[in-house]
Amino acid sequence: MNDLTSLMRPESVAVIGASNTPGKIGYAVVRNMMSSGYKGEIYPINPKETEIAGLKAYPTAIDVGKPIDVAVICVPAKATLSVAEDCGKAGVKFLIVITAGFKEVGKEGRELEEQLVEIARKYGMRIVGPNVLGIIDTHTPFNATFAKEMALEGNIAFISQSGALCIAILDWSLKNGLGFSQFVSMGNKADLNEADFIEAASHDEDTKVICLYLEDVVEGDRFIKVAREAIQRVPVVALKSGVSSAGAQAASSHTGALAGSDTAYSAAFRHAGILRATTMTQLFELANAFTTQPIPKGKRTAVVTNAGGLGIVATDAIELGGLEMARFSEDTIALLREKMPPMANIYNPVDVIGDAHYDRYEIALNAVLLDPNVDAVTVLLSPTAVLEVDKVAEVIVEANRKHPEKPIVAAFTGGFAVEQAVEYLKKHGVPIFAFPEEAVSTLIGMTEFAALSEATHNGEEWVFDDVNSERVREIFDSVREDGRDLLLSPEAAEVAECYKIPAAPSRLATSEDEAERHAVEMGFPVVMKISSPDIMHKTDIGGVKVGIESPEEVREAFRSIMENSKKAAPEAKIYGVEVQKMMPQGDEVIIGMVKDHTFGPMVAFGSGGVLVNLLQDASFRLARGLTKREVDEMITETKAYTILKGFRGAEPDDIPAIAEAIGRVAQLCRDFPEISELDINPVFAYPKGLSALDIKIKLS
Ligand code: ACO
Repeated sequence: MNDLTSLMRPESVAVIGASNTPGKIGYAVVRNMMSSGYKGEIYPINPKETEIAGLKAYPTAIDVGKPIDVAVICVPAKATLSVAEDCGKAGVKFLIVITAGFKEVGKEGRELEEQLVEIARKYGMRIVGPNVLGIIDTHTPFNATFAKEMALEGNIAFISQSGALCIAILDWSLKNGLGFSQFVSMGNKADLNEADFIEAASHDEDTKVICLYLEDVVEGDRFIKVAREAIQRVPVVALKSGVSSAGAQAASSHTGALAGSDTAYSAAFRHAGILRATTMTQLFELANAFTTQPIPKGKRTAVVTNAGGLGIVATDAIELGGLEMARFSEDTIALLREKMPPMANIYNPVDVIGDAHYDRYEIALNAVLLDPNVDAVTVLLSPTAVLEVDKVAEVIVEANRKHPEKPIVAAFTGGFAVEQAVEYLKKHGVPIFAFPEEAVSTLIGMTEFAALSEATHNGEEWVFDDVNSERVREIFDSVREDGRDLLLSPEAAEVAECYKIPAAPSRLATSEDEAERHAVEMGFPVVMKISSPDIMHKTDIGGVKVGIESPEEVREAFRSIMENSKKAAPEAKIYGVEVQKMMPQGDEVIIGMVKDHTFGPMVAFGSGGVLVNLLQDASFRLARGLTKREVDEMITETKAYTILKGFRGAEPDDIPAIAEAIGRVAQLCRDFPEISELDINPVFAYPKGLSALDIKIKLS
């Protein structure tokens, strides 16, 4: 683990390029450090000044002559290397390089950045940035940024790849009363990256949630490992923008075409237990909810409202979003029946109706919070003339305090009439929204996180120890020796057999005699296909014969396939004719693998056959660390699952066998990183077992 304690809790900070000229970044950083309440030493560094903001200034970091934990660099890019050297000599531990003009501006900048990293390595310094806003820790407290203001004290660690976004969010958070524990701008991530900052924040006692804004991830495996550990203590929510290069690498395969540009990040976040936000609003709504409310223990949600319409909207959002409307216990029903007027709805959603005063909210809210069948509560309000809106807000805050184990979210739908109450709820940490769906959406996110976190606790990588990897190695070596990267079908079928992925028997025949022998051995009927990596559309040139029932037909097919192929493609390298056992028709699915630059192999499962690209029905998971539970989940997510479990009275297919085949494909791809693409399409699924028909394996 990288220890970032001296970065987040420094005892001394040097500002290199500190300035007395208002408007300069070096001016702002010194003033921010001073006004942040920082208790450590601040050393302004500027060769032309003796004093900056009343502090003694030094010509270089070396001249300070005392230990320096952090140096904030705000000199022009061309001066950064020499000041970094000085910092190294002065024993500085961390550089926060605000300066821009590195990798982001092209080749020259990239070289400068590499040199900066080299200097840092030479002296054992770590770098934040370059090209950053800086870092704030409100509990240290310190503010090594050039932002206009210090962040409010709070429990959200915000880690952002964009500095400009940091500035905007900081300003917005001040207006909206959102507090942060850490505020980190990562910039170019030349050295320290998201994994380092997630790890540091997860060990920070003042952080209750980690909030990420990412454009990419640098170290895929480490990112996942660190995040999985972090979520054991705090939720991690991420907004990821920009498209990744996943899929592009393998666009020639069916699986590659099924993978969207963002598939790898979705798969990686899910495996890491990171909750993915789709908008900035959602990112901070969830962050706020995680710092103020407990995580729901289940999906059963109660709704309390004084407006039937709002209650219905919330009910729809709950059911569509995968939560459940709680079914109250008899005690709750009895209590509500006794205390509520006869017109009220005492079942979920509890409608205290339009003439309600705040006391009906008090009774209903406390009743549902006490109910063992309720995991979370949504309170809705329409500001009628008879309702004491502010009192309802007080009732909610008090109920939240009395029942700290269950989350409450609220939607007060109105304008001026609810303004004060909304402020009160915000101030007291009750997530408050204008409309019911927004409130419910926050509960959905929190519940999703609970499920993600539970999944990361349960399950080890699904491993099979009955595979023959030595033989696969031999096959791959011989393919390479032959100057190919694509396996012939019989070779691919043998690879599958080595990993106990049930495949239709397939053999290569170089003569009529051999073809007959193979066909008799595997049993009729058989299919015969020309075996040549140079011939793509085999059927079109008469290179495929199906339904062959006898030795005579095998011989005849061998001759005609060879003749047709030689005539149609005289230059093609022909290895012979593939004889494959013709399997009975099953339900067609696809199992495949596509590689991502950052996160490695991803396995895919979905509807297969010739319509695969039209149906676009596939789910993906990372092959590394793939658990049995994840495989089961990926099957149930697809439309193919509806067919497999027995559509319209059909006998169900062997779903456990399919799951096992996916697990084995994942292991094959983990064991042999040189597999660049893998497609098994179709796989015939049967009520008992399955058969992989067409297996394509490409090596890098
Ligand atoms: N050691 C110490 N001080 C030095 C050195 C040195 N080797 N060399 C110069 N200085 C002093 C200068 O004399 C000056 O002080 P002064 O005001 O007393 O004269 C101070 O350092 C700054 O140097 P300038 O040449 O005045 O540079 P300036 O302040 O104009 O710009 C800066 C420096 C801000 C780092 C600029 O190069 C830069 O990178 N700007 C962009 C920053 C940025 O946007 N970062 C990304 C943020 S994230 C986002 O997107 C918001």
